Amino acid sequence: MTIMKLHFTGHPVKTIIEVPGDKSISHRAIMFAAIAHGKTTITNLLVGEDVLQTIRCFRQLGVDIQQSDEKVTVIGNGFHGLKEPRDVLYTGNSGTTTRLLFGLLASLPYTFTFTGDASLNNRPMKRITIPLTMMGATFIGRNNDQYLPMTIRGANLQAINYHMPVASAQVKSALIFAALQANGITTIYEKAPSRNHTEIMLQYFGGQLRRQGNEIIVEGQQSLLGKDIHVPGDFSSAAFFIVMAAISDGREVTIKNVGLNPTRTGLVEVLQQMNGKITITEPSIKNGERVGTIIVKASELQGTVIEGEIIPRLIDEIPIIALLATQCSGTTIIKDASELKVKESNRIDTVVTELRKLGADIEATDDGLIIRGKRPLTGGIVNSHGDHRIGMMLAIAATICKEEVILENPECISISYPSFFQDLNKCFLK
Ligand code: S3P
Repeated sequence: MTIMKLHFTGHPVKTIIEVPGDKSISHRAIMFAAIAHGKTTITNLLVGEDVLQTIRCFRQLGVDIQQSDEKVTVIGNGFHGLKEPRDVLYTGNSGTTTRLLFGLLASLPYTFTFTGDASLNNRPMKRITIPLTMMGATFIGRNNDQYLPMTIRGANLQAINYHMPVASAQVKSALIFAALQANGITTIYEKAPSRNHTEIMLQYFGGQLRRQGNEIIVEGQQSLLGKDIHVPGDFSSAAFFIVMAAISDGREVTIKNVGLNPTRTGLVEVLQQMNGKITITEPSIKNGERVGTIIVKASELQGTVIEGEIIPRLIDEIPIIALLATQCSGTTIIKDASELKVKESNRIDTVVTELRKLGADIEATDDGLIIRGKRPLTGGIVNSHGDHRIGMMLAIAATICKEEVILENPECISISYPSFFQDLNKCFLK
């Protein structure tokens, strides 16, 4: 097992960083480029393990993809340019690759078999396969068709009207990809707005989509055109540095060129409710996505309640919000977040287990967490559970621990943020 010893010292400083490209947008950029006609050049792509799985899958599907660091060129030949793969599609740890590809491939007259790592092979797939089966595709998978390994047989799809039982951008996006090739007009209803990068990028590539309240309406048989795209910095990666500064003893961090899509920035609202000193400057729009600079200063924080409609807009930030809450005075309650149980790890359990080891007063509920602050954190031996966001949260916890923290299994951090420790060390240069 790999371990990493973490102990941070040094005087408070001001640091300026840039985080790598957005993971959700990077996956989608490869996918849209692969099904469009013509050439797409993607810059600032996230070169993390999950996105590399997406690239490998599309190469197996016959797409010409040239990659040199964060610059990628894709030559798309339309949906029907995709070929039947000769081998199993391995999607590693990546739920986004798997679920979006299910929808994207369901209209092709071929057979595809998917498998992933131990975590992915235990994540629920019925949420995707139920609506895609209604459209006409067939799925056969482990444990009564619930889990990977899973085989899809594509079909001529029919449009549907579908109420999504969970607010999930992966389900919504899979259905949009399927709807683009179906016969008729598909309507998707979402309970609460989840990240809308698929909708924005579809329009950017020349596709049509309408939004009416919580309904998304997509016409079938669309054709897309390749277009250059620049991926903004990942807000979910920036979140670790936002919290690092807010709970620090006098530090200030500036993060430039970060994606600020409001369906992702629930953490900014929470930090403001908590009395956090966070400012957003230099706003602009790139490829239809909001981008800007975030400045965060050490703050005197107050606990709060996080529930309802905001949850999908900060779902990936809940582990780091739990750490933030340990440094707020009063109690923070997180509700309506049972989706955390089916992420890369059961994040309700892993957050509670690991933060308790460092001295936090935190408890699991059925659909969230209760965190009592303000508690000084000590130090100790903690484990990422192979979950990148748990690993990064624990490394940020180490920045306020009195003693050393030993982080077991840190390598999973490269799934979404390969240069995480370089950027963290920048903030603690003496
Ligand atoms: C993602 C959607 C979210 C999120 C995941 C990325 C996406 O998952 O947790 O990290 O890129 O669409 P759900 O759709 O399961 O909520």
